Amino acid sequence: MTQAPTQADRVLIFDTTLRDGEQCPGATMTFEDKIEIAHILDEMGVDIIEAGFPIASEGDFEAVSEIARQVKRATVAGLARAIEGDIARAGAAVRHAERPRIHTFVSTSPIHLAHQMRKSEDEVVEIIGRTVAQARGLVEDVEWSAMDATRTPIDYLCRCVETAIRAGATTINLPDTVGYATPAEYMSMFRSVRERVPGSDRAVFSVHCHNDLGLAVANTLAGIEGGARQVECTINGIGERAGNAALEEVVMAIRTRRDVLPYATGIDTTMLTRASKRLSAVTSFPVQYNKAIVGRNAFAHESGIHQDGMLKNAETYEIMTPESVGVTKTSLVMGKHSGRAAFKDKLRELGYSLGDNALQDAFKRFKDLADRKKHVYDEDIVAIVDEEIGSA
Ligand code: KIV
Ligand code: ZN
Repeated sequence: MTQAPTQADRVLIFDTTLRDGEQCPGATMTFEDKIEIAHILDEMGVDIIEAGFPIASEGDFEAVSEIARQVKRATVAGLARAIEGDIARAGAAVRHAERPRIHTFVSTSPIHLAHQMRKSEDEVVEIIGRTVAQARGLVEDVEWSAMDATRTPIDYLCRCVETAIRAGATTINLPDTVGYATPAEYMSMFRSVRERVPGSDRAVFSVHCHNDLGLAVANTLAGIEGGARQVECTINGIGERAGNAALEEVVMAIRTRRDVLPYATGIDTTMLTRASKRLSAVTSFPVQYNKAIVGRNAFAHESGIHQDGMLKNAETYEIMTPESVGVTKTSLVMGKHSGRAAFKDKLRELGYSLGDNALQDAFKRFKDLADRKKHVYDEDIVAIVDEEIGSA
């Protein structure tokens, strides 16, 4: 029997569409777009909205400040590098939020320390202690991220996490910055760090996965199984390179497979399609047709066998209802793979009722047309049937 999730199994949804998502080439948003998307995220039940990177530009600062002023329910976070000026700027930007958060990060992997930071391990540990404490002096809610955590030796990662918690971090994020981890590795990293670091029970652990190997959502779910209770994700999975874990996929996986993923989120899933469409419209960044949950084909069936099954019982080929993600209806796409049952259903929908012979002839005409034409629209079917009725 499936047990109802308890509070301990509540997974917080941290949306970074307006920060990591906007970093994706071609997804820049205007100030007004960002405010609109922030309101949709808030209404949908996102727990934390990462509104931007205030030090990055005047525009980013203004957008984060305005979102902090307007959003009343969700926590509003601003990103900051482990640099005094960044943290002060992020603190100023989220100052007016009901629930402000500073999210500060530093790289911890050997390759980043050697080539990007040009700092020793000890120097980075000192920076973590100092900058987290500075952020904590400005707000109660401080998230610290170990950039490139998945390529960081576990002993050193534990030392960094312990330093951040001691300095006052309330959320510890262990990102798979370059999308390198496998699910088993990611889960075991969370288990080890949580087991080994003193005081880890005082912090919420967070997953943040990039999709370079197409594993972002799988890794996210594995991280939750490893004990993480915050998920960082973006609408439509937009983000650097191959993107971030897609919010709608993570949320619907949790909701649909509660039998094996006994967790809960606060997301109103019926808003997922609207959020996806609005984001795609404001960024002009298209959603691939076969994208899970929100792609145009996600609830479309063309093969005759599938259409026949769907007409008998939708659960034959759908594991969630279209309504649960805000789509009004499953669509049976009429094409060369469609069978007689779907054709008959389409005629009923268009207001036609044909006798057996006329139906047989019309179906044949439809099949001939579908062989020649990629998409058969309702108008084509109306024309076929009118012709059939006319010739009878
Ligand atoms: O991918 C990453 O490591 C990040 C951090 C800033 C959290 O986006
Ligand atoms: Zn990222």
